Amino acid sequence: MFNDPFAELKKRQREMWASFAPNAMFTTPSAAHLVEFAQIKPGESVLDVGTGTGVVAITAARAGAKVNALDLTPALLAQARENAAIARHEEIVWTEGDAENLPYPDASFDVVVSQFGHMFAPRPEVAIAEMRRVLKPGGRVAFATWPPEHFIGKMFMFIGRHSPPLPPGASPPVQWGIPAVITERLGDKFEAPFFERGKLQFFALSLSHYRMFMELYAGPLQKLVENLANDPERLAKVRAEFEAMCAPHYHGNTVLSDYILTRAQAR
Ligand SMILES: C[S@@+](CC[C@H](N)C(=O)[O-])C[C@H]1O[C@@H](n2cnc3c(N)ncnc32)[C@H](O)[C@@H]1O
Repeated sequence: MFNDPFAELKKRQREMWASFAPNAMFTTPSAAHLVEFAQIKPGESVLDVGTGTGVVAITAARAGAKVNALDLTPALLAQARENAAIARHEEIVWTEGDAENLPYPDASFDVVVSQFGHMFAPRPEVAIAEMRRVLKPGGRVAFATWPPEHFIGKMFMFIGRHSPPLPPGASPPVQWGIPAVITERLGDKFEAPFFERGKLQFFALSLSHYRMFMELYAGPLQKLVENLANDPERLAKVRAEFEAMCAPHYHGNTVLSDYILTRAQAR
């Protein structure tokens, strides 16, 4: 049996991400970018790790791939199934599960993708080893992550600063946004990676609208605000800090953040 020292953290993550669905409106364009960058071809078998509401999985199915998709959070998988029915891709196989313990045999897929998903598994070395294990020889991994120097990366570091420390052995998610770290984590199990960047746009009528949206629908920020509910003074400071951090990235009623795409072929 899989003995998981991070079971408690993952239980909290499962609850935390349940509110994410409205954010999928913003991750829909980058899903198309990732599917194109991954060079997914008709007939290929694809696994989407941390699928959420299924934006990447459904885009890959529309490109002709045979798709499996996995996520920790059942509430999001329910939404993904609805999205698949609307898109007429009911053949996609949705599975509740963990990036660190993929429930598939070795060498199952031509391509393993993840958009802002596997980066939240606490042990990068375990998640990437699992993604490599389920790839066929010569298959490819392709994922989108948040670089620490751009807005969403900064937001996750801000959340980290104001939250209880991660359990020992867990790595902060934005480490997955640093090309040198990515290359090191892919190690000798993959050929040298290719990188590309893109910009994600969040539409908001004011900085306060954006902050309120994220407090409602970005689980880690939602948790942070909940934890400060009994400390209104600190909460007000944290909210002001959030808006100040966001301000340089807000133009034309849009918050912009770069993401980084990585693609690498399995050795
Ligand atoms: C930021 S959302 C991205 C969702 C989707 N890929 C998208 O781009 O809209 C992060 C997702 O990763 C999932 N997740 C977090 N930790 C996970 C883990 N250890 N295994 C599988 N999924 C995980 C969450 O449940 C959530 O759906």
